[in-house]
Amino acid sequence: MARFTLTVNGRARPVNVAPETPLLWVLRDELDLTGTKYGCGEGQCGACTVHVDGAAIRSCVTPVSSVARQKITTIEGLSRDGSHPVQRAWIAEDVPQCGYCQPGQIMTAASLLAFRPKPTDAEIDDAMSGNICRCGTYPRIRKAIHRAAGLGAKKK
Ligand code: FES
Ligand code: FES
Repeated sequence: MARFTLTVNGRARPVNVAPETPLLWVLRDELDLTGTKYGCGEGQCGACTVHVDGAAIRSCVTPVSSVARQKITTIEGLSRDGSHPVQRAWIAEDVPQCGYCQPGQIMTAASLLAFRPKPTDAEIDDAMSGNICRCGTYPRIRKAIHRAAGLGAKKK
């Protein structure tokens, strides 16, 4: 076990965990941030996506020790009140179906727009290709990303 003081959603969060523990389980089990989901556990589905220094990463394959000094943002920290342009666009386009993949989809979309404020369809498809949705909400996701771009999604 090792002690880390993580920076999560703008707060210092001390944890005592094995250094190789995936960030996903530290977030969910130690910090009770259960918005980040477990899907495949192998970096293949995107359900566990969070931001590390603004970039979308797969928390299920990220050892906590590798992000101990970086700024981590989860779906709970994207905005205080659901007002991030991506969240507003998701609501406006009624994107989710079962909802399970959606925190990861939103985090990937927010990171895309932070680095690429007006993405093309091809850029959206490329950026979102690692986020699987069993319900097939892809057309609404793409629409919502264009809408969020119009709302001026900014780097978090
Ligand atoms: S649970 Fe992390 S990519 Fe699937
Ligand atoms: S909304 Fe059901 S898996 Fe994406």
